[in-house]
Amino acid sequence: MDFHILIEKAIKAKGMAYAPYSNFHVGAALLTKDGETYTGCNVESAAFSPTCCAERTALVKAVSSGERDFAAIAICGGHDGADFCYPCGVCRQMLYEFGGDNLQVIVAKTADDYKIHLLSELLPHGFGAKDLHLQKSK
Ligand code: THU
Repeated sequence: MDFHILIEKAIKAKGMAYAPYSNFHVGAALLTKDGETYTGCNVESAAFSPTCCAERTALVKAVSSGERDFAAIAICGGHDGADFCYPCGVCRQMLYEFGGDNLQVIVAKTADDYKIHLLSELLPHGFGAKDLHLQKSK
């Protein structure tokens, strides 16, 4: 799959980041299996812990719009774009909830400089509904 467009959307979303405390701006673009895209940026708080990462912003927007099935997420962020920005542990867990092992996670410096991972590489042996022996109701 060509992830150029998805990465461009993540880069654009980064421009909306509210990160006055860290100055670490992050954008994410989440692709549904139907081809819809939901974007997000990090939104910080002076109390620090309520901060929401870009990945979870995108995920919450998508799920609250009725989406449940995701194919990929592109992430772009950092102080100067010099490094790849990998999702934090909390975001990996939330992405696992909806994306599962096969979600493609694209970390990008630019639309031409990126790496593709499976979520299972970033969160091996993920904990989910299966471990609770639960059938998810809805
Ligand atoms: N952040 C994200 O939005 N996504 C990541 O993948 C890593 C970290 C945010 C949280 C906080 O606003 C800032 O980056 C510094 O941790």
